[in-house]
Amino acid sequence: MLQGKKTFLRPLELDDIPIFYQWYNNQNINYWANAAWPLSTMLSEEEIEERFFTPQKDGSRYLILNEEQKPIGTVGYRDVNLPARSAVLFIVIGESDYWNRGYGTDALKVLIDYLFYQWNFHRLSLDLWDGNLRALKAYEKLGFKVEGRLRQARFVLGEYRDGILMGLLRDEYLEHHPPHPPQGI
Ligand SMILES: CC(C)(COP(=O)(O)OP(=O)(O)OC[C@H]1O[C@@H](n2cnc3c(N)ncnc32)[C@H](O)[C@@H]1OP(=O)(O)O)[C@@H](O)C(=O)NCCC(=O)NCCS
Repeated sequence: MLQGKKTFLRPLELDDIPIFYQWYNNQNINYWANAAWPLSTMLSEEEIEERFFTPQKDGSRYLILNEEQKPIGTVGYRDVNLPARSAVLFIVIGESDYWNRGYGTDALKVLIDYLFYQWNFHRLSLDLWDGNLRALKAYEKLGFKVEGRLRQARFVLGEYRDGILMGLLRDEYLEHHPPHPPQGI
């Protein structure tokens, strides 16, 4: 298990499927999380299992737990490019009571530390739709920079919206976030 200041990350287990069912069939979560999907996604437990719980060759997904080990969301990476040592991150805090309280930023930091310092990734990126100002702010706090705008690439509640691409390089991150050795060393 990986540990941050407010969150823990652990691999998914099949017992986690019901909570994913709740999060990914929740209109409010989907509105912010992935404007590429219709509201609501109406995924069955079988579809959730196939989509999120089948091991991926080019990425991984983890469960985010709070200080009391309660599941509050999911974070992961996909689209690994081995020669470039890059990947695309994603995150959903599925329990909206935990938004705006630093949990998403902390969980992302845990994953970023892991990917930069343990797996030696060189570049991490993220994308969001232009109305998701909370996500934009959280990613900026970690040092992600806006790298591009995908004009009208998303469709949100009846209108086309721009997608925003953000990127973070290992060296930039290292300047502000030196690695912490695991406790006990
Ligand atoms: C996006 C997400 C991961 C961010 O995690 P979080 O724990 O809520 O983020 P944080 O609390 O660390 O930071 C959010 C920041 O945005 C700010 N913020 C919130 N709403 C805002 C708005 N409308 N405009 C500008 N800033 C806003 C908060 O004040 C906070 O900044 P601060 O720490 O300087 O006060 C989380 O909210 C989430 O999962 N949301 C739903 C799904 C989603 O949007 N996923 C991302 C898809 S790209």
